[in-house]
Amino acid sequence: MKNARAELLETYRSVRRMTESLCEPLETEDYVIQSMPDASPAKWHLAHTSWFFETFVLAKGMPGYRPLDPRYRYLFNSYYYAVGPMHARPERGLISRPTVGDVYAYRHHVDEAMHRFLEEADPPTFERFSFVITLGLNHCQQHQELLLTDLKHAFWKNPLLPTYRKYPHIAAKDAVPLRWIEFGEGVRAIGHAGHEFAFDNESPRHRVFAAPFQLAHRLVTNGEYLEFVTSGGYEKPELWLSDGWNARLEENWNAPLYWLKGDPGWQQFTLGGLRELHPAEPVCHVSYYEADAYARWAGARLPTEAEWEIAAMDVPVTGRFLESQHHHPGPAGEERALTQLYGDAWQWTQSAYSAYPGYKPLKGALGEYNGKFMSGQMVLRGASCVTPRSHARSTYRNFFPPKMRWQFVGIRLAS
Ligand SMILES: [Fe+2]
Repeated sequence: MKNARAELLETYRSVRRMTESLCEPLETEDYVIQSMPDASPAKWHLAHTSWFFETFVLAKGMPGYRPLDPRYRYLFNSYYYAVGPMHARPERGLISRPTVGDVYAYRHHVDEAMHRFLEEADPPTFERFSFVITLGLNHCQQHQELLLTDLKHAFWKNPLLPTYRKYPHIAAKDAVPLRWIEFGEGVRAIGHAGHEFAFDNESPRHRVFAAPFQLAHRLVTNGEYLEFVTSGGYEKPELWLSDGWNARLEENWNAPLYWLKGDPGWQQFTLGGLRELHPAEPVCHVSYYEADAYARWAGARLPTEAEWEIAAMDVPVTGRFLESQHHHPGPAGEERALTQLYGDAWQWTQSAYSAYPGYKPLKGALGEYNGKFMSGQMVLRGASCVTPRSHARSTYRNFFPPKMRWQFVGIRLAS
């Protein structure tokens, strides 16, 4: 039987390898640019995820560890004030030095030390740091998703609309009719419990009351959303939340991000380039405000996060994830039960991101990981086509400000 140490080392190697394999299609220039303050350059993702292990494991738990360059502590800190000051987030794209080569050397420096730490740390030290290492690997996986969402946005901002890589051609097909799945009322427990890894914001497990509700068995499709667009959904303030209508005016939204009105029809930008809009695919890259307005127009609403979790807790975690290499949401299959809970696109919920009753952030600087963002953001559930498979679970709470559209986020209706 493999011991915990060997298992963690193997996971460490495979997660770190995955990040680098996602960068294989990139040219040097692609690593450096930052297309907006919310997105980070690929190079920064590579360095920051290494900084995490250096700061929270090696500097604290490995006697004699020497950082490759002490200035990286400032350069690649994201938002941990307890660690120290940091480079301004909107200016990450200005860091032309260290070079891409330097950043890879930094990764290898950290990886070598981490391999040594995982092999040689005495049992109490290993015990003390194994959770933080697992947290660091989950952090790497979050940045794998961000790496692709940020690259997609950077390519979109380039008038040449370059592609990340080639994908096999997918023929358009008809959408399966939408069905409603019923759930009875009751008191149910949601949230994380047990020994498997989860972020602090998923705990504690607690009871909630849910009135009877229905969930759409699949995600809203492009074809359905196009009806909202062509019927003037973006011109009717009565469908929109006040903040949403203001955002729609300020940003001049007329359709989801990455949609282009072409001749003859709508097109959609993907990591594989521009192509015609497939009506059966899930609509994606919509803000919370658009999801909410669409739901109102459709005579429905968005689910609460508790409803989503109650519906998902007994459903196996399957779907089109990062590893399936589509990097784009695909149409629902013929299944009649709840589908597309995971993979394809995250789903906006109408729940504000806040603490579960009795929530305790992690101790020390890592308490800044999740807890301090519990204001002004909405919870998303599920996982997307660029989420690693092992990163998805029914208790997972993702969160973004309601205006954000560059993540792979779609719509599941409730009523
Ligand atoms: Fe991070």
